[in-house]
Amino acid sequence: MTDGNKEIYDTRYGAATFQLGGDSYSRAMQAVRFELLERYGRGRDVLDVGCATGDYLKPCLEAFRSAVGLDYTQRFLDEFAASFGGALPPNLRLVCADAREMPIADRSVDFAFSFATLYSIPQGERVVAELGRVVRPGGHVALEFGNLKSLNTLVAGAWHRAESWAEPHHVKLADIRRHLDAAGFAVVDWRAFQVLPLYAVPRRLFWLRPLSGRPLRGLLGRRLAAGRMVDEVVSGSALLRPFAFRHLVVARRLGEAC
Ligand SMILES: C[S@@+](CC[C@H](N)C(=O)[O-])C[C@H]1O[C@@H](n2cnc3c(N)ncnc32)[C@H](O)[C@@H]1O
Repeated sequence: MTDGNKEIYDTRYGAATFQLGGDSYSRAMQAVRFELLERYGRGRDVLDVGCATGDYLKPCLEAFRSAVGLDYTQRFLDEFAASFGGALPPNLRLVCADAREMPIADRSVDFAFSFATLYSIPQGERVVAELGRVVRPGGHVALEFGNLKSLNTLVAGAWHRAESWAEPHHVKLADIRRHLDAAGFAVVDWRAFQVLPLYAVPRRLFWLRPLSGRPLRGLLGRRLAAGRMVDEVVSGSALLRPFAFRHLVVARRLGEAC
């Protein structure tokens, strides 16, 4: 299956690119994701689609019954494996493959997640369809999609053309729901983030700079008493939600458990 981003990941991105940490906004977003891993993954068979160097899987391995890290960039998987300094933990398997054709057994996973990955995969609906095959009925997915109708579509496209960053493959929100439905998933939670890009804006989009939102990252990353980030409250509001970039959807696989 063609994917111009394969070569870009092979050659342009260092393994350090994906390391967790960073500023308070990044850390707040990471905390949102780790909460989902704890809630849906504890004691379960888990799959990370686009695991890169395993920064989300590794801290949770003891909580998961088993874990599969899937990524098509062997370099990142090698780095992940090397971080154990010898043999992989017995409950971890690393699979180098395209997420649109996963060599993963039918109904073998209780919880699959994919962070910061689906929005750079062409024909991402194939990944969703594959998840419909590998996730057991009653199991869950937590998936981040990139909204086509967002400022980030302009920013990511411009960075791709200027610096050969991964080409964005953002989708319409209606298509996310359609693809999940077709794969046999029912949405249980749908959260929106990043109505402002929050990234550096390339020079040719100078007019967008006042809207980049970068100076606001600290404020938008604050968590309110209810646990939600300020960004989520703003980006998830009825008016702005259709234009927010990052849509984090939790869905349950329908069907009879065997
Ligand atoms: C931006 S990184 C995100 C890494 C990690 N999930 C995180 O949130 O830090 C995207 C990862 O997805 C992988 N990837 C992109 N397209 C893929 C595909 N079609 N199949 C498998 N892996 C893919 C890349 O190799 C890269 O490691």
